[in-house]
Amino acid sequence: MDRLLIQGGTPLCGEVSISGAKNSVLPVLAASLMSEEPLLIQNAPHLQDVASTMRLLGSMGATVTLGEDNSLRVDTSGVNRCYASYDIVRTMRASILVLGPLLARYGQAEVSLPGGCAIGTRPIDLHLHGLAAMGAAIDVNNGYIRARAKRLKGTLLALDQITVTGTENLMMAAALADGTTVIENAAREPEVEDLACCLMAMGARIRGAGTSRIEIEGVRELQGATHQVLPDRIEASTYLAAACVTGGKVRVGQVRPDTMEAVLVKLGEYGASVELGEDYVEIDMRDRRPRAADVYTAAYPGFPTDMQAQMTAVSTVAEGTSTITETIFENRFMHIQELVRMGANIEVHGSAAVIQGVEKLSGAPVMATDLRASASLILAGLAAEGESVVDRVYHIDRGYECVEEKFQRLGASIQRLS
Ligand code: EPZ
Repeated sequence: MDRLLIQGGTPLCGEVSISGAKNSVLPVLAASLMSEEPLLIQNAPHLQDVASTMRLLGSMGATVTLGEDNSLRVDTSGVNRCYASYDIVRTMRASILVLGPLLARYGQAEVSLPGGCAIGTRPIDLHLHGLAAMGAAIDVNNGYIRARAKRLKGTLLALDQITVTGTENLMMAAALADGTTVIENAAREPEVEDLACCLMAMGARIRGAGTSRIEIEGVRELQGATHQVLPDRIEASTYLAAACVTGGKVRVGQVRPDTMEAVLVKLGEYGASVELGEDYVEIDMRDRRPRAADVYTAAYPGFPTDMQAQMTAVSTVAEGTSTITETIFENRFMHIQELVRMGANIEVHGSAAVIQGVEKLSGAPVMATDLRASASLILAGLAAEGESVVDRVYHIDRGYECVEEKFQRLGASIQRLS
């Protein structure tokens, strides 16, 4: 099991290029199931979750080929099984995103329930209720979802709770349904909008993606297309947070600053100078200690829950007291005990973590428990005095491409121990 060895205390300086968004490429890969013709995906990140999804599509009979320039070509004309097995789904919950496309294209799907997750129960009831409302017959037992529908019917859907992959599953299902579907209280994340762009390039008729009301007029079939995945706003924000916590100056390139506004405002509250360009963001925190600030996670365009753990790490060495409130997931504080082992002063009260900033963390052996918690521990190790070893690094490889190389490019002393 790989580990990362980090010598902390060096302010990060330099520029790093940001990869395509994990949470966009995953639904876009699922959308390839919706057309007989190939889908060409550009700016695809090299991530463990992408490899898992390629394996999942391959297990159904699809052909996925890697291009030399971060492109993937997916041909689903050979799909002969509408089945997503537990041994793949349990490694990646986002596999649930094949449910809507399989049902819409083939009229059937057998997908393993995702099962538990470190950060919360993460049910998929809203996905299933929506598909049932569109006419699918859904049966859940023995750990599998079995769904059938001759042809889904467009209808009015009002989601009880904002769900990103729920919105994406239902939007894909509606694209081939008979009639028009409206999704009220839809997720507004940029990744939802990016998926809609891909579907529209394939011939889908969608209005309002990126707002809380999405209208989809079903068509009979979709064509092949080429889609460029949007930049990963969470990866970009993570490197900016690393500059903030180490007192450095970092520019992230090939990004969409308009998708990062809540994070950029928050970094300003922590005392960073923020410079915005057309496709880059640069923050300068040299010779400065972060100021304490409060973070309250919310659905987009609020502060992203996927950046909560990273800002918790920044708060551990900020001047003053920060309160970090996690409103989306019920168990997304598992990085906190590890940060406390590095000398952080944090008290958890329900969904809020109260953090008294300390002058310096001390390096220590720590263990990653989930994707963003591992990012948080790397940031803490980079800021700490002395040596840290982050164990179970397979978590970070799910969502951050070439993580140690990118940090090395910023001057970090970090290496992978296999
Ligand atoms: C997506 O997960 C992201 N994953 C997550 O990123 C992200 O943290 C999350 O959205 C919130 O922004 C992908 O896009 C692949 P939700 P998702 O459905 O869709 C509850 C990362 O680190 N809910 O928006 O699974 C749920 O329990 C990952 O990159 C139901 O109750 O999240 C949660 O409390 C982690 N019933 C809330 O809604 C449902 O049917 C939001 O979940 C669905 C969700």
